[in-house]
Amino acid sequence: MKATHVLTALGLAAAAALAGPAAQAADAAAGKKLFARCKSCHMIANGDDVIFKGGKTGPNLYGIVGRPVGAEEGFRYGKGFEEAREAGLVWTEEDVAAYITDPTAWIREKTGDPRARSNMSFKLRRGADDVAAYLASVAE
Ligand code: HEC
Repeated sequence: MKATHVLTALGLAAAAALAGPAAQAADAAAGKKLFARCKSCHMIANGDDVIFKGGKTGPNLYGIVGRPVGAEEGFRYGKGFEEAREAGLVWTEEDVAAYITDPTAWIREKTGDPRARSNMSFKLRRGADDVAAYLASVAE
């Protein structure tokens, strides 16, 4: 009986460690591969220099870490992002990882508005910290 309890506790601890976005050392190379799942909607381009070819449904993610939230000129963000931008938020690597894991939950937490939504319907269940590390590496 006791052994079962110990094993259950260990299992829960392992699950908790996997759930945290910063639980493991982030791997930018793995994140670059995972970015294939983002490219239908996002490109990474510094002016004419295209680093990762992709779509325009979402904003260009060049230099996103360190950039204010919702700051791509000419992109029409949803209301939640307008609120986050007005609050003066700037993307950190941790925030990018949390956002792509659950965009609407992140917006709600940051704006304090329980009805706020993100227009990004995609959720990355695994490897968000790796993608965030990759994005942090594509900047000036
Ligand atoms: C189905 C299309 C789609 C996919 C796939 C997608 N996104 Fe998005 N993303 C969007 C849209 C649309 C927005 C703008 C959201 C809004 O205005 O509420 C956005 C916003 C963002 C932002 C905020 C940008 C800013 O300027 O503040 C980040 C960061 C982001 N996405 C990262 C990612 C990453 C990383 C992936 C892959 C793991 C990804 N997205 C996959 C559509 C997508």
